[in-house]
Amino acid sequence: MTGIQDKGTIFRHIPVLVDEVLRYAPESCETVLDCTIGGAGHSICLLDKFPQMRLYGMDRDLMAIQASKEKLLDHGDRVELQHSSFSELESWLMLWNQNFDYILADIGVSSEQLARPERGFSFLEEGPLDMRMDVERQTLTAQELLAQSSEKELRNILKTWGEEPWAAKIAKTLVSERKRNSLKTTTQLAELVSRTIPRRFHKKGFHPATKTFQALRIVINRELDELEQLLRSLSKSMQNGSRLAVISFHSLEDRLVKQTFRNWSHPCHCPPDLPYCICGLKPLGKVLTKRPCTAGNDEIHSNPRSRSARLRVFEFEGQTDD
Ligand SMILES: C[S@@+](CC[C@H](N)C(=O)[O-])C[C@H]1O[C@@H](n2cnc3c(N)ncnc32)[C@H](O)[C@@H]1O
Repeated sequence: MTGIQDKGTIFRHIPVLVDEVLRYAPESCETVLDCTIGGAGHSICLLDKFPQMRLYGMDRDLMAIQASKEKLLDHGDRVELQHSSFSELESWLMLWNQNFDYILADIGVSSEQLARPERGFSFLEEGPLDMRMDVERQTLTAQELLAQSSEKELRNILKTWGEEPWAAKIAKTLVSERKRNSLKTTTQLAELVSRTIPRRFHKKGFHPATKTFQALRIVINRELDELEQLLRSLSKSMQNGSRLAVISFHSLEDRLVKQTFRNWSHPCHCPPDLPYCICGLKPLGKVLTKRPCTAGNDEIHSNPRSRSARLRVFEFEGQTDD
């Protein structure tokens, strides 16, 4: 993995779908909100493209904020960064009181979070079972979740958030293993899941513990709730012409974004045979991406993480009284 080390803190992350993110930026892009600043990869490209632009950035990972602060030093007072999560965005929007032309959310984990074994996101290297994105403010770790949940709860977690077909068997093994030994490390968990799923069902190029890790990470970070709150907060305050670009990395997130955009563009729920609308719900705007943008072969080759990225873009319109 290439380390992006423009200056100071190393932050290993290659931004995905950069050309597409730039292409969907409104022509006049004066104020941008990057809800997932990460290593500032997308933000730097936007600041370079729009020299007059002012950037507001946030991330729930303090390390991302610190790394981005260093990388964006040259841009001085064009940048304001906040250690904050999507669920707190509504308060920040009130405080900032800005009309954002472009809002970007590139959700999920960064390569930097995955690359640090001590964060507990990766099954490839030994680390504590942590998985918190906000180490400063979140309390529940994956180790505690695994220790406290019943077999039924574990099965539901793996099934719902990992879409893991072996959820029942894995949950059973986890519970019997923890009676004998406490599960403490990422590699212990990864090996246990690998042993539980019969070898002939292991997929080539796909670690058998991928779905288990995804499920635990989603629950620990309440990722879908957070995404829902992000979309709700933005829907209440976006202005005419503002564009929202969301990049997601798994089907649960992408489905939520797709359905939300569809509801925003077609909110009326009157029966189709009514001659006119009585629910009174007006569209918030239109979806600009009929199909999600995905990475091409070259990008996938140079950055395999981009393989599962899906970009969807929505344009808000002004509310009318008619
Ligand atoms: C894929 S990385 C973003 C990378 C960034 N676009 C770049 O080019 O460097 C995703 C980032 O979103 C942050 N994140 C995930 N969920 C969040 C949430 N609910 N609130 C705020 N930040 C979140 C993660 O901490 C991580 O740093």
